[in-house]
Amino acid sequence: MSEKIFIFDTTLRDGEQSPGATMNIHEKFRLAQQLVKLRVDVIEAGFPAASPGDFECVKNIADNIRGAQIAALCRCNVKDIDTAWQAIKNGENPRIHTFLATSPIHMQHKLRLTPEQVLEKATAMVAHAARYTSNVEFSAEDASRSDLDFVCRVFEAVIQAGATTLNFPDTTGYALPDEYGAQIRYLMEHIPSIDQAVLSVHCHNDLGLAVANSLAAINNGARQVECTINGLGERAGNTAMEEVVMILRTRAERAGLHTDIVTEHIYPTSRLVSTITGMPVQPNKAIVGANAFLHESGIHQDGVLKERSTYEIINPKDVGISTSNIVLGKHSGRHALRDKVAEMGYSSLSEDELNRVFARFKVVADLKKEMFEEDLEAIIMDEVLRVPESFKLLHLGAMSGSRSLPTAAVKLLVAGEEKETASLGIGPIDATFRAIAQLTGTTSKLLYFSVSSITGGTDAQGEVMVRIEDNGKVVVGQGADPDIITAAAKAYLTGLNRLEYLKKESKRSE
Ligand code: KIV
Ligand code: ZN
Repeated sequence: MSEKIFIFDTTLRDGEQSPGATMNIHEKFRLAQQLVKLRVDVIEAGFPAASPGDFECVKNIADNIRGAQIAALCRCNVKDIDTAWQAIKNGENPRIHTFLATSPIHMQHKLRLTPEQVLEKATAMVAHAARYTSNVEFSAEDASRSDLDFVCRVFEAVIQAGATTLNFPDTTGYALPDEYGAQIRYLMEHIPSIDQAVLSVHCHNDLGLAVANSLAAINNGARQVECTINGLGERAGNTAMEEVVMILRTRAERAGLHTDIVTEHIYPTSRLVSTITGMPVQPNKAIVGANAFLHESGIHQDGVLKERSTYEIINPKDVGISTSNIVLGKHSGRHALRDKVAEMGYSSLSEDELNRVFARFKVVADLKKEMFEEDLEAIIMDEVLRVPESFKLLHLGAMSGSRSLPTAAVKLLVAGEEKETASLGIGPIDATFRAIAQLTGTTSKLLYFSVSSITGGTDAQGEVMVRIEDNGKVVVGQGADPDIITAAAKAYLTGLNRLEYLKKESKRSE
């Protein structure tokens, strides 16, 4: 019989540690809702002791989300553990996830503790956490570079103290699959009470081996995989959830293991994460990359037309990629839109959100002949992930050409007051950004700018992604419109509105 692998999603915690991938409270909540739809077993919602903002995000998720266990990360000290518990105590089967390093490098240089002190601290703090809940996970940070007999001693002691999940992270992404698999086997064979706990793995991708290592681990007895959507995470990232899940599903006959993930929600979730974090997915990324199901060579195209399985091992529909892509036209009504949006995995939109999406849809459908799923998705993201607008675009006129000086005239609503100006620039987008900067008075720096076309054809919507920084705070902004200068202005303003929102939020939590 196929055994279940528990999926522990850490996109909201380790994923957010990707440089520049910060998410606000609404975005985190939206993602948590989507993770429930995917049917992950555990959502690691954050690290409550890290800041008041983190605490609030985790609490908001724990208080309101049902359908998955909610975990909070904490260091091995009383204050962190107490704070984590305060954040998650109203959650569904809340999990305290506490960690302490066990490798000689970390114990000596970072913790400045002897192995005996580490053992004692881990045991005492797990016992403290277990007073709150029987759902306690202990992670031996940098486990793969630790002495295995020492890890066995620590794991046995924390099981006795109340831990029910033991995590063996490859924190630095150093392990090789055969080696990591053998380490897991060793633990399975040398921890006397291992049958009283679930062994978990958490791999980083520094050598591009996170998925391979996770697979080796579950083939040797681990039963929980910690992973993120799109493989986001600290440095080179974590194990990509979509890859592990689809490996187990596609090669079920060999793996003999399964997850509860509803794979049809994988692609919408990947797009949601990419839009929220401003981290594009590389086109050749397995499972969710734009090219993952495209066949370029004529021989391949011919083969697939004759029999899909000649060159396709996964049906794109199984991961939520629809192939008949034209969805709606300008005469489609609100009802059709609601059905389509739900079919795409966004069934939790409120009436107000749906109304805004419908209004935008009508405007874009008037300009374009055909609306594709990607067009609709860009509108949904734009409307649903919106933060309160401190700055609102009222009018934009830009001029450029091979002989004229690029100019932009912009009118904004700034704190309820109409303001307008005109600016010159290197190109029309530069001129537009200068005018917006002048009207908003922003001192932020533009770190990243990208334009892409959402679908093919000259009538396609342009999608612009920006990343901006102000006083150490980095946010992303995205905007979509058939006119790319308007899309760029929208993206810039979304970013600026997010910065304003962050400033107000941090003042509020001071
Ligand atoms: O990489 C790591 O070791 C971690 C732990 C905190 C689980 O993220
Ligand atoms: Zn990690």
